Amino acid sequence: MSLTEQPPGHGSDPTDAHPTDADPADAAQVALRDRISADSLTTRRDYLRIVATVSGGLAVGGIGVASGILHRHGDSDGALEPKRIADRILPGDSVAFRYPDEEDRAVAVRLQDGTLAGYSAVCTHLACAVLWRKDRGSEGELYCPCHEGVFDARTGEVTAGPPPRALPKVILVEDDDGSVWAVGTTRSGESTQEGLCRQLGQERPGLAERLGCPDASARGALERSRRT
Ligand code: FES
Repeated sequence: MSLTEQPPGHGSDPTDAHPTDADPADAAQVALRDRISADSLTTRRDYLRIVATVSGGLAVGGIGVASGILHRHGDSDGALEPKRIADRILPGDSVAFRYPDEEDRAVAVRLQDGTLAGYSAVCTHLACAVLWRKDRGSEGELYCPCHEGVFDARTGEVTAGPPPRALPKVILVEDDDGSVWAVGTTRSGESTQEGLCRQLGQERPGLAERLGCPDASARGALERSRRT
């Protein structure tokens, strides 16, 4: 899913936008922008235009992960801090980073058609490091050298080898200056919206409401009533 955001009106506060007509794409744009605007590393002047490419569907796998020995990538119910991971990523290139925590290895790739995709770089088989091989397959692939596991670069799904589940995904946003940000994660079987709702719902019910998250309206109403 690619989200393109238009600049806010001159002099306006972008957080004032409230797409009450609840187009999920519009709501997602606003929510993602607000996530970034809350980050102290950037200023609101930077939010002229955001193109977000979101790769959804997170899986958690591997014996160590399943047994709770290893940290679960993206296993957070709280709002995650946006993190700038690259000044830009060119087609065919990848960037290794850590998200949401320093022990969470992740990789971002830019496909030849411009799509950005972010994943956990921890193999769902036995937690080896997953590598980007841009010259394999029709548009590159994510490869685990330990047991020849292969993941689809566009979806994170397993295409070969023993990994039992798709790679967990990292939600990426590209700012107008080309910088790439990690803003959230999704669990296995979750859509991007579901992942954001889970991470925003408790702590930022207003944003969750704008995303159309289940039960968010009640939480948002409660939050507004507390302010009055
Ligand atoms: Fe990746 Fe076995 S650890 S395929």
